[in-house]
Amino acid sequence: MSITVPAEFEKKIDEVIGHYPVSKRSASLPLLHLWQESFGHISDEAIDWIAAKLELQPINILELVTFYPMFRRQPFGKHHIRVCRTLSCALGGSYETHACFKKHCGADGDDHGPVHSEDGKYTIEFVECLASCGTAPVVMMNDDFYEAVDEAKVKELLQKYQ
Ligand code: FES
Repeated sequence: MSITVPAEFEKKIDEVIGHYPVSKRSASLPLLHLWQESFGHISDEAIDWIAAKLELQPINILELVTFYPMFRRQPFGKHHIRVCRTLSCALGGSYETHACFKKHCGADGDDHGPVHSEDGKYTIEFVECLASCGTAPVVMMNDDFYEAVDEAKVKELLQKYQ
């Protein structure tokens, strides 16, 4: 195993694995959640570590991490900005909203995955429907919900979330 984890964390991992006496492999998703909650993202080293712990190949873990959108492969900023891109929001201007966030917080990169501001404060990503389709474009700042987010609102939110 290429990295060392805190003993307390490994104890929790062993407890979770103990809940799956028939097949350790079944503990893969719970372990990934636990890892992300504890360390913020799932690095290549984390994948190797978890695979070794479960007596699997790293590809068995990597395929889960890349399949499920809730898993993060890189560290995220202090504030996580989610912009809905499903139909109503796309028609209501969510691509412009996403571009405004990038412009005003100094983030670069394409729109296919999370993008990060240079100061590490913000991570912006597109997500699917946030269930408020009548008030497009819709955004979540961490766990807070905002509707009809235009450029003026983008600037206001970036001021608010420092
Ligand atoms: S389409 Fe954006 S909230 Fe539903």
